[in-house]
Amino acid sequence: MRILELRGVSKRFGGLLAVKDVSFHIDGNEIVGLIGPNGAGKTTIFNLISGVYRPDTGDIFVLDRPVTGLPPHRIAHLGVARTHQVVRPLQELTVLENAMVGASFGRHQHRLGKAHEIAEEALKKVGLERKADSLAGSLNMAEKKRLEVARALAAEPRLLLLDEVLAGLNPTEVQEMVEVIRSLRREDLAILIIEHVMTAIMSLSDRIIVLDQGKVIAEGSPQEVAEDPAVQEAYLGDPQMAAAFLSGEGE
Ligand SMILES: Nc1ncnc2c1ncn2[C@@H]1O[C@H](COP(=O)(O)OP(=O)(O)OP(=O)(O)O)[C@@H](O)[C@H]1O
Ligand SMILES: [Mg+2]
Repeated sequence: MRILELRGVSKRFGGLLAVKDVSFHIDGNEIVGLIGPNGAGKTTIFNLISGVYRPDTGDIFVLDRPVTGLPPHRIAHLGVARTHQVVRPLQELTVLENAMVGASFGRHQHRLGKAHEIAEEALKKVGLERKADSLAGSLNMAEKKRLEVARALAAEPRLLLLDEVLAGLNPTEVQEMVEVIRSLRREDLAILIIEHVMTAIMSLSDRIIVLDQGKVIAEGSPQEVAEDPAVQEAYLGDPQMAAAFLSGEGE
């Protein structure tokens, strides 16, 4: 089944065309990387898929159903869950309660008892179960990133959108998070992952889509996109990203 399809999607912010005629699709249980220099339009694409923004042109389909213009909660109910680039847990709630929010407002909108159960499972999947009763505000950055993933997982998504869940983590934490993401691979879940940490995205992804200035400039296996001259040029325009790309270190 086609989990996600974008057809000719564009989004303008005032004078800036942030996303230009973007088309791609995700099938089955793929893990697809979405990469590109800063400002390429990656997060905007997540905001379009999840209904935060409505595209100016084009159409978006989730599980073969048109979702263009639907509000975020309706899209969440179809099984789309996301993490945010800037983590923002509900600081005054516990870790478990934060994950329960995902279960309550996700695909099945569980009542408290069931939400509790699902949230506990999600915390286990990301290795946060021992922090369940801590206040979310007391977590360090790596733990907050895990909590973002747990909250999204508790929504029991068919499509999981991960926005830079490795950013700001040290190499050990990156490795741990990569293992968590790898462990999520299952029959009925597709993952679209935005990431600047190149070694990680290259090793995790079945396929990579490269954006530059709002446009898809390449799509293919990790090997294919790494060797693509257009991709190398896009990154070379940005010295910091080029260094990251070529060294495989990421930000
Ligand atoms: N709400 C908004 N209003 C105005 N401009 C916006 C808005 N959101 C994004 N933009 C602009 O759209 C462009 C794409 O932004 P976006 O956040 O999608 O990039 P990105 O690829 O996620 O970058 P990064 O790697 O830095 O996170 C940028 O020029 C950004 O400044
Ligand atoms: Mg972004």
